Amino acid sequence: MLSTDSILSLRQIRAAPHAPAHGSKTNRRFRAAARNHRLAGGRGGQHRPSAREPPARRGPGCLAAALRDQERSGRLQGERPRQPQRLLRERRAGEFLLHEAEAAASSAGVEFVEDPLTTRPWTRAGGQPAVPEKLDPRDWSTLLKISAALSSLRELDDLQRRLLELIFEVIPAERGAILLAGTGGEEFASIFGWDRLPGTERPVKVSRAVIRRVLEERLALLNHEVPEAGTTSIPCLTSVLAVPLLAFDRAVGAIYLDTSNPQVRFEEGHRQLLTGIAGIATVALEQARQREWLESENQRLQEQAESGHDMVGESDAMRAVRQFIAKVAPQPSTVLICGETGTGKELVAHAIHRASPRADKPFIAINCAALPEALLESELFGHEKGAFTGALARKPGKLEVAEGGTVFLDEVSELALPLQAKFLRVLQEREFERVGGTRSIKVDIRLIAATNRELEEAVSDGSFRRDLYFRLNVLSLTTPPLRQRREDISLLASYFVAKHSKRCTARGVTGA
Ligand SMILES: Nc1ncnc2c1ncn2[C@@H]1O[C@H](COP(=O)(O)OP(=O)(O)OP(=O)(O)O)[C@@H](O)[C@H]1O
Ligand SMILES: [Mg+2]
Repeated sequence: MLSTDSILSLRQIRAAPHAPAHGSKTNRRFRAAARNHRLAGGRGGQHRPSAREPPARRGPGCLAAALRDQERSGRLQGERPRQPQRLLRERRAGEFLLHEAEAAASSAGVEFVEDPLTTRPWTRAGGQPAVPEKLDPRDWSTLLKISAALSSLRELDDLQRRLLELIFEVIPAERGAILLAGTGGEEFASIFGWDRLPGTERPVKVSRAVIRRVLEERLALLNHEVPEAGTTSIPCLTSVLAVPLLAFDRAVGAIYLDTSNPQVRFEEGHRQLLTGIAGIATVALEQARQREWLESENQRLQEQAESGHDMVGESDAMRAVRQFIAKVAPQPSTVLICGETGTGKELVAHAIHRASPRADKPFIAINCAALPEALLESELFGHEKGAFTGALARKPGKLEVAEGGTVFLDEVSELALPLQAKFLRVLQEREFERVGGTRSIKVDIRLIAATNRELEEAVSDGSFRRDLYFRLNVLSLTTPPLRQRREDISLLASYFVAKHSKRCTARGVTGA
């Protein structure tokens, strides 16, 4: 039987709090996945590979040739025995479940060992053109539907869901997942799981080792064995099939299917068909993923560009603010900016950064009131792989990303007490640990904090640490409200009219 001891479990996220912080697009993706559309029906176990015949030049033959090309991209290699797992840990939290085989942490960090799934005999994609050259009419119909979906669906979520729906029409899988590899530090940029059973809450469990192997070796893997009942708390898998998504000679992800139905066995024909589907779908999936990334990056850069404008105002109060900025910018000291909402605290923080020797390094703004405590902790300090459910890869925190630059902690009074303690250490020692990590990380950052609450009051009522307050309050400024600088009103009005009319003109909308 297939051992499921070492399984990475993926569940479509259902609520925003645990959604990854890759911008609203990603959150939307996870929320969309959470809408929990499920598939009903399918024709489990009925698929049979068709007989072969020579490919034709056009029509069906062209698709068969495409399938064969994809097939040839695999390599036939002998099976190598793998080391058994040494340490098994299970971590649970929030929406994801993670069962992962790990070796004991070594001095260089955590070292993973292959999980037992990979010690089982696998059928791997051969080099010979084993693609059926005559396809079952149902397979044809599905391939045509897939090609229609690829050209009509733009959103990555929609595309992945439709693809799995259609794959379930021709392959009797109970569960499926599409995993797209990350381009940065993260292991996966996108993970989408789908269960054939309507309304099921069960997570889709994917062996990390299988996926890693499919990506590394760029081979399709097929495994089916009879389960031994009751040997594990995880339902026994009778068949597992995973194929790589290959684009430009690079594995950009994988499609994973499994079933625990003892009546069902994935066959060679299923592997060939899935390999062909992967070949057709890869570029569209990769492009959808890249477009999502570009859109969120574009949004981030636009926000950054918009926040970079100069401060408007010629009043004495604004002159004093400018003098303050000029005085503190060259120093490394922490700055505390107090002031009512909308008085330009973030503008001042930006201006200090731009006038400082750190100007060509990142300016990272974090709003302490915008995220729940656990998520904020991971955003600030980063996390190690497996630190909590959904921590599929090591992720650096914003403090690390800001290395050499400035961190702007907005609404600092909202920082939870445990995080205040962690931040105090950052201010005192310039070091911290990632969530779930043991290694201290040194950072070179300048801190600017802002608040629209009286921090002294927060200290008196015990919601803010006194020692942190003193550490933050090295150089401080109170931004003046507009009522104290009425002479700036007309300047600001002209500034905002010019700014917004420019935007409207750019969109083709002009005044009368
Ligand atoms: N002196 C100024 N010149 C130009 N724009 C300004 C000025 N002061 C504030 N603004 C604009 O007002 C808006 C609010 O500014 P900002 O976000 O910096 O305020 P804030 O004090 O951080 O507010 P909050 O407490 O709500 O976070 C921004 O769009 C900013 O561009
Ligand atoms: Mg602000």
